[in-house]
Amino acid sequence: MAKYRADSSPTKVDLGVGVYRDLAGNTPILATVRRTEQEILDKQCTKSYVAAAGREEFNSAVEALVLGGTHAARRDRRARTAQTPGGCGALRVGAELICAASPGVTVHVSDPTWGNHMPLLGSSGLRLERYPYYDAASHRVRFDAMLERLSDAPEGDVVLIHACCHNPTGADLDPAQWHRLAQLLEHRRLVPFLDLAYQGFAVDLDADAACVRLITERVPEALVAISFSKNLGLYRERVGALITVGENAARADAVQSHVLQIARGIYSMPPDHGAAIAARILADAALKAEWIAELAAMRTRISDMRGLLAQHLHRVTGDASFDFLRTQRGMFSLLGVSGPAVERLRDEHHIYMLPDSRMNLAGITPANVGYVADSIAAARLG
Ligand SMILES: Cc1ncc(COP(=O)(O)O)c(C=O)c1O
Repeated sequence: MAKYRADSSPTKVDLGVGVYRDLAGNTPILATVRRTEQEILDKQCTKSYVAAAGREEFNSAVEALVLGGTHAARRDRRARTAQTPGGCGALRVGAELICAASPGVTVHVSDPTWGNHMPLLGSSGLRLERYPYYDAASHRVRFDAMLERLSDAPEGDVVLIHACCHNPTGADLDPAQWHRLAQLLEHRRLVPFLDLAYQGFAVDLDADAACVRLITERVPEALVAISFSKNLGLYRERVGALITVGENAARADAVQSHVLQIARGIYSMPPDHGAAIAARILADAALKAEWIAELAAMRTRISDMRGLLAQHLHRVTGDASFDFLRTQRGMFSLLGVSGPAVERLRDEHHIYMLPDSRMNLAGITPANVGYVADSIAAARLG
């Protein structure tokens, strides 16, 4: 990021950041958010403390948004939700909960995974292991290898699962694979820890939560970390939630009480402002519809840029080696070029991405796509 800022080239392109960008290169405040925020500020009459679980209306709206209206765990009062400071807060509280409940378990994390997963979960003292997830050569999920590894995991181990828009690969499971994974988690008595940071960025709000609903319907216990940083563009407001599903209502209560105790011991209570905005949008049908349209526009822009970049790369390379970009989902993909090629892109072409060639497709625009494609084709050959 520092190198990008210091680069004075007029053609520089930032594909390294982890935030959505519009056609003008901005990370906008959604119009729905801006209006709701103003209304809240106008009406707010106190900044007094909130509870460790945050806003009740936020928590119940999030539960409905993620688990859906008819989920068995909600019907049986086995689900509990606590507002957290972003998805990171939910991941960290979840990790502390696992550590307190079963300090000896291993958390299995996809290889590769988002760069913050290991520090966020590992610093709670949990043992982490990687399961095979992505084949860089074919740009596909190594599903059989993943299942094979997870079927060897001891009962009670935890599996961290990206619910959609896998970061950094953009490669998600298909519906049949989700069913087989849910079956395995149930039969092997593994505990799913689902990370839902991009709901609405792949297909739509319901489709992107389908795997969460499927898995949490089948297993007795589960955790779900939710982030509204991307889909509501509320990054710096730190809006997230941790849903825990317990074996029965009494156990769910006990788990929630642990969650709140952990929260009190770390940050006391979550920040209110962003969650107040999210709760208001989720509760009002007109605002929610407007937000869904804004979310669809972000999603469409990313998938359009995926198609456009794949098309340009196909033209300049004369082969289909980058066509996978078209079908992967969410903001990120691994371009799949070597470390030296990533350096050449940066040093000779002013195009910035992570050292493992993770690129943010939201950094592409119709204006820079030709330049980016030409540069990738040149840099890949050295
Ligand atoms: C996979 C994944 N999980 C969780 C998060 C947490 O996001 P935040 O703490 O900003 O809500 C992110 C953010 O980039 C992410 O990519």
